[in-house]
Amino acid sequence: MDTADSASDAIAALAALRDRSGCPDPNPLYQVLHQHGEVLELAADRQYSAVAVSYHACNQVLRDPVFQVVDAALMDRGSTRWRSSATLNAFMGSMLFSNGQDHSRVRRLFGQAFTPRRMAALEPAIAAITARHLDKLAELGADGAPVDFMLEFAFRVPSDVMGELVGLPEADREWYYPRALAIHGALELGGTGDPDVMRRADEATTELTGYFTDLVKERRAHPCDDLISSVIEAGEGLISEAELMANLVVLFNAGFVTTTHLLGNGLGQLFKEPQHLARLRAHPKLAPAYVEEFLRFEPSIHFVARWAAEEAEVAGVRVPKGGGVLVLLGAGNRDPRKYEHPDLFDPDRTAAQPLSFSGGAHYCLGAALTRIEAGIVVPMLLERFPAIAPAVPLAGRTHLALRGYPALPVTLA
Ligand code: HEM
Repeated sequence: MDTADSASDAIAALAALRDRSGCPDPNPLYQVLHQHGEVLELAADRQYSAVAVSYHACNQVLRDPVFQVVDAALMDRGSTRWRSSATLNAFMGSMLFSNGQDHSRVRRLFGQAFTPRRMAALEPAIAAITARHLDKLAELGADGAPVDFMLEFAFRVPSDVMGELVGLPEADREWYYPRALAIHGALELGGTGDPDVMRRADEATTELTGYFTDLVKERRAHPCDDLISSVIEAGEGLISEAELMANLVVLFNAGFVTTTHLLGNGLGQLFKEPQHLARLRAHPKLAPAYVEEFLRFEPSIHFVARWAAEEAEVAGVRVPKGGGVLVLLGAGNRDPRKYEHPDLFDPDRTAAQPLSFSGGAHYCLGAALTRIEAGIVVPMLLERFPAIAPAVPLAGRTHLALRGYPALPVTLA
């Protein structure tokens, strides 16, 4: 194939990945992109100047401070209309969408609440939350009726674990859950372009901001051993009230549906390869290795975006100042230069180091908690339901921003 053919195949693969109606299977498209090279240069694209495809190129973009996340100042250069949305204000006011010293100041404050001691201390609560939701699943599926694993379990456990971490009183978690889901709607494909989705998300953000304002007041008066109290204590004089609220709202969402889809995608993978389901059930100590391979093979988030604050270079490709770079984490996780047989699900890989939690300054703060949580939940699920099986063929998945099954009906007995 000559260079022109390779480039046009790669452009076609990229168009299929970005198709507004969704992308049922990105992995064959990643193969095409890998054949073209480490980075795809886009001369005539309004949004991106380049696409990082290889593991090495993705890593380079994530770690080089010249490549920044979209922030409020950059958004304002397009239009300031986004400022009328409470949800977009919360996102843009959070560490996920800030750069430089603002980012490191806020990240340090929240990061000190994610100590290994605090994460380990959550283990009994995670096991108790899991046991409670397994009981509910058992009840719902007692007569052999199909139960939606996503709705009844995969959404519920991470939401309660986030509640535990952040410090939401247990009685408030049922109230919180649908509001967190409404905000999640804005993150879905096309979400910000849908006025109904945005109206619901904005109402939820306003309510949750009010909720956190009261809770922060309460914790200032009566601190306890939770994330809110620890951020308040460390942050006195270092973080504004608006930043604190935005980060609390966004933190909950960052750690919620991502983990939901790890659980759903992981179980779906075990259903596709029953020999692995049997092996993991027989050897629950292998759970961390399986979780690591779920993360690589079926990441919840397939891409992140950066833009170049100055002229820069990625794996030999020049990116102009102001140029956008699409970082295909999902492609990096399937890079044949990095992984032998990348399209083989193989939990026996050593040091897989998937890109699923991103890298560099914005590396996921919840990575350790996610690994602990999934390492507890998956073996408990398999032990409790030895006959768990899909009730219908697995549904298609179309989103790349947050990729997971819309529903996963299972039978338990
Ligand atoms: C399977 C589970 C998860 C996945 C796949 C995931 C993925 C990611 C990714 C890709 C980013 C970086 C975005 C970027 O580079 O632009 C990120 C950032 C972040 N994640 Fe996670 N995440 C998960 C779970 C969690 C959990 C459980 C928490 C909280 C307890 C959490 C909190 C955060 C925070 C606060 C950031 C922002 C860090 C920063 O901007 O400095 N995540 N996550």
